[in-house]
Amino acid sequence: MSFDFAFQPSVERSRVETLATCAWVRAKETLLIQGPPGVGKTHLSVALGVKAIENGFSVTFYRLEELLAALRADAELPPARLRRRKYLNVALLVIDEMDFEPMTRTKASLFFRLVSYRYGRGSVLITTNKGIKDWPELLAGHAVLATAILDRCLHHSHVLNIKGRSYRLRDLEQAISLRQ
Ligand SMILES: Nc1ncnc2c1ncn2[C@@H]1O[C@H](COP(=O)(O)OP(=O)(O)O)[C@@H](O)[C@H]1O
Ligand SMILES: [Mg+2]
Repeated sequence: MSFDFAFQPSVERSRVETLATCAWVRAKETLLIQGPPGVGKTHLSVALGVKAIENGFSVTFYRLEELLAALRADAELPPARLRRRKYLNVALLVIDEMDFEPMTRTKASLFFRLVSYRYGRGSVLITTNKGIKDWPELLAGHAVLATAILDRCLHHSHVLNIKGRSYRLRDLEQAISLRQ
């Protein structure tokens, strides 16, 4: 999967290459990929997930909505069974699209439990189009919970902030500029 770095100058090739060594996964750190729609967040998260697999790490990939549904369904499991769930025990958990409607309080606290459990045990990669300041709103407007989650996500973390054009719209942009 090739990423066109020339198209997205805010993404430094050397930083992505460093992340592709997976040292951050080995160190159980967090990676936050932020940016507007279409700039390659999912693309990069999948590419880095594949790198992690090639480096021998276990990886699982969820969109946030699917993850919350799984957490909800598993909420009553006894701890020993819960700990065998992939989202808890893989070396790298990718959470894509942390950017939709605000969570309910129940979901926000399940998410908090997940992040707390994984903290120091394994890596998390989150993609989002929300800035950090929008997280409290996303997390059921629960400022204390949002602070606790951010605290765990941002401690030992890397942030890729992508500022640029949507790759999805580039053909459209070309078509429009040809017509002008
Ligand atoms: N810089 C890039 N080089 C090559 N393909 C890209 C690039 N950025 C995005 N894409 C492609 O454009 C589409 C949209 O990217 P995606 O990763 O889904 O964006 P996002 O998750 O940020 O909304 C995907 O098919 C992706 O592979
Ligand atoms: Mg995406």
